[in-house]
Amino acid sequence: MKYKRSDFPEGFQFAAATSSYQIEGHGFGGAGLTHWDSFAATPGNVVRGEHGQTACDHYHRMEEDLDLCQALGLDAYRFSTSWARVLPEGRGQVNQEGLDFYDRLVDGCLARGLNPMCTLYHWELPAALADEGGWRNADIGNWFADFTETIMSRIGDRVFSVAPINEPWCVSWLSHFEGHHAPGLRDIRATARAMHHVLVAHGRAIEVMRGLGVKNLGAVLNFEYAFAGDDTPEARQSAERYDAIYNQFFLGGIFNKSYPPLVLEGLEEHLPANWEKDFDTIAAPLDWVGVNYYTCKRIVPADTGWPSLTDVPGPLQKTQMDWEVYPEGLHHFLNLVHQANGKNLPIYVTESGMAQAVEPGAADIQRTDYIDAHLGQTLRAIDEGLPVKGFTYWSVFDNYEWALGYEKRFGLVHVDFDTLERAPKASYHALAAALAK
Ligand code: FCB
Repeated sequence: MKYKRSDFPEGFQFAAATSSYQIEGHGFGGAGLTHWDSFAATPGNVVRGEHGQTACDHYHRMEEDLDLCQALGLDAYRFSTSWARVLPEGRGQVNQEGLDFYDRLVDGCLARGLNPMCTLYHWELPAALADEGGWRNADIGNWFADFTETIMSRIGDRVFSVAPINEPWCVSWLSHFEGHHAPGLRDIRATARAMHHVLVAHGRAIEVMRGLGVKNLGAVLNFEYAFAGDDTPEARQSAERYDAIYNQFFLGGIFNKSYPPLVLEGLEEHLPANWEKDFDTIAAPLDWVGVNYYTCKRIVPADTGWPSLTDVPGPLQKTQMDWEVYPEGLHHFLNLVHQANGKNLPIYVTESGMAQAVEPGAADIQRTDYIDAHLGQTLRAIDEGLPVKGFTYWSVFDNYEWALGYEKRFGLVHVDFDTLERAPKASYHALAAALAK
């Protein structure tokens, strides 16, 4: 690799990420059903109908998996907790085995010198709460606050940092407007409610954690660079609308107590009554912001209802996801987030990575190039004076890539999904050499 640890400021944290449903194996340890289980069981939603019942079997191999993180030379490990593993029905009865698992995970990180970076919700909503409308139901802020209290009362004293919700855009827009992720809805009113409630839930969780004395609380948002797909003013306006929905809405709520006019033009009539009154909760002060960044899109107008846009293919190199590689976008969003939070807060790159089908032992050059290019843009921002404090690769392991099943391979470690054997890829070894102290 081109970059190495010593190119970065002292204390900069190199991390790698996973999430509960994507690796743990939800069929184990008394976890309750989630909306990802029912979504995956519905033909047509997930490639080959694949689901997370076994996934990487991390539930039983956690120690071995943390050993791999330690041997990679990471400073931090970003993981998520499954609501349905802790509270199988979403509320009420606690699954002690689930709490014990996260307790061992946090201690396992600390024993290996890995800072535990915890995300409370990375998408597997308990099915019992989905039955009650899930993210559409205004009560979800209170349900999530109760879950936060339950899990953080157990591990909140030892985590390095906590973010309540991974990628509010995916939880709401991707899952309720585009229907690509559970619950697979395509409904503008459901979308507006989910977009607002996900922010209320974020704020309620922050309040609860402040009350418990948990330290270092942030938000993890995802961003996608929006190019105009052609030279027309109409394409430029479409790209601006896309940018407002994807990149500005959640920042606006959290840091500016407002939603962008370009989003309100389509969603305002569908927002819950008195939505403005929730901004004090939504904008609870934070200690850091996380940026998840992968790619860009080329936006053009479409002859449909609002938001009246679609995307067209672009010319840059693509990954196995068919996502263009555009590292400069990361620099753009580090700046956007820095401005949006009043230039106050430490920023972490909490996800960046690429999928490519690579066998263990084979060269993995596109991935190391991708990491180098995104580390380079991170360094550029640091050199300009931005307080970027860490970079997190997605992901440690090949895993369950949601609606695309197991074939999209983001891991530094190859997983054979028949034998569950782990094998570090060439990129793992290259990164380990770059991180060596
Ligand atoms: C992010 C998700 C993560 C994974 C990567 C590829 O949006 O947070 O779970 O799916 O994309």
